[in-house]
Amino acid sequence: DLVCTEMVSSEALVRNSRKTERLLRFDDFQRPISAQIFGAKPEVMADAAAIVGSSGVDLIDINVGCSVPKILKSGSGVALMRDPDLLSQIMRRVVESAGVPVTVKMRAGYEKNSCDCVFVAKLAEEFGVSAVTVHPRYGVDRFRGKSDWSLIRSVKETVAVPVIGNGDIDSPAAALRMIDETGCDAVMVGRAALGNPWLFGDISAALNGGSPAETTRPDRQEIGKVLLWHYRMTVHESQGDPVRRFRKFAAWYSRGLPGSMGFRNWINAVRTDAAFRAAVVDFFRVSDAE
Ligand SMILES: Cc1cc2nc3c(=O)[nH]c(=O)nc-3n(C[C@H](O)[C@H](O)[C@H](O)COP(=O)(O)O)c2cc1C
Repeated sequence: DLVCTEMVSSEALVRNSRKTERLLRFDDFQRPISAQIFGAKPEVMADAAAIVGSSGVDLIDINVGCSVPKILKSGSGVALMRDPDLLSQIMRRVVESAGVPVTVKMRAGYEKNSCDCVFVAKLAEEFGVSAVTVHPRYGVDRFRGKSDWSLIRSVKETVAVPVIGNGDIDSPAAALRMIDETGCDAVMVGRAALGNPWLFGDISAALNGGSPAETTRPDRQEIGKVLLWHYRMTVHESQGDPVRRFRKFAAWYSRGLPGSMGFRNWINAVRTDAAFRAAVVDFFRVSDAE
């Protein structure tokens, strides 16, 4: 299993590494861990890779997939798929300075008929990248439509480095289906794990011979316990207002439970740590003892 950090700005890392390094903090039990960086300047990405590489992570991932407008405007994320020369320089410089293996996460392309993931995966391999992840939607499509798994298969048939498939996996059965249909070496799960971290264990069990139909359905109290543990970590790790930051996670944890809509309205209205905890204790019928 591989844990990935959220993306961290190379510019921010180089400018103020202490503050940004908070985002890269991890515990040994999370290993192997991959830290993801984004940016559009080869020299800044190289310096950021050196900082991150020396922080003890096992891998560095270059973000070539983010489609958030602010990131695109800076020329980073999936915008790099429009500029293979610049992307090549970034990959070369990051591989040179990282000190740990480097991977690249990309989309199908920036848009249809632009430079695609098969081409970019080949480039990545040429420049010494150790594995690629493919989320086969175009950048301009953001999260619309279905991901096109046939593109993962095309990448797998083209490069020798490991290929990690990503896009729309929401169950152990879907993970097995992606591996079967594409031949990918591993799968990555995004949205379906929000509020359902048990999915990782279920997929892992299915990949190790367990039944894909067996999924963990923790009871309300167990979900509440994990939510509070996650919330405490957020309070401990994040700057700013943890209640604001955590609201959406609390909503995801409540998905599918009777009364979840009322709970969501409730937590959207609370402002303080004490009120937030009280809402969770009440809805999930859980104790808030540390
Ligand atoms: C809230 C949210 C945050 C994300 N943050 C990142 C990120 O920091 N880096 C990244 O490469 N992808 C990020 N993604 C994209 C996911 O990694 C993944 O590629 C995408 O959601 C498709 O996979 P899924 O269908 O399993 O969700 C994010 C997605 C969501 C919904």
